[in-house]
Amino acid sequence: MKRMPLLASTTDPRWIEVALSDLDAVHRDHLHCERKAAQSALSLVRSYPDRVELVAAVARLAHEETAHVVQVSALLARRGTAPTWDLGDDYAAALRSKCRTGEPERLLDRLLVFALIEARSAERLGLLGAAIPDEATASLYRSLAAAEERHRDTFVELARGISPDADARALELARAEANIVANLPLRPRVH
Ligand SMILES: [Fe+2]
Ligand SMILES: [Fe+2]
Repeated sequence: MKRMPLLASTTDPRWIEVALSDLDAVHRDHLHCERKAAQSALSLVRSYPDRVELVAAVARLAHEETAHVVQVSALLARRGTAPTWDLGDDYAAALRSKCRTGEPERLLDRLLVFALIEARSAERLGLLGAAIPDEATASLYRSLAAAEERHRDTFVELARGISPDADARALELARAEANIVANLPLRPRVH
């Protein structure tokens, strides 16, 4: 499998088998992933209201993530799957713990962490889009994967605008992300 740009590893091929074994669990988790993506983008508006270009870019991105919440919610309804509470996200929490304190390092790291989450999500949604037998669901996943790839690029571009060290730091955080993924169990969830 070709590695998704930015990531330092590819997903264990056994993950898709686990995901396909309980697709309803994946969809229920995915609903919260999209919601948290919107909330994370908006958290940057709260933290950096004076950065006009950043606010415009992440607000647009949050708008798209909210549209994804609507789409995944419709998918759950179509399948007759009842949504559940958020199971929490040890993956994102571990990654967020790598963010440095002090500015502009904190902003740089938050942008790169969000870029990595988008990249890993895009990779896995793409795997689902290629493997899910139901064509309507598979095609939804392919379109969501393409959107998350664009979001990855948006965050990388914003990071590059913050610091000339963005690419070097992206490499460090990508290695940390690969390590976190490798130490998590394979489960029917997006991460
Ligand atoms: Fe999304
Ligand atoms: Fe996204």
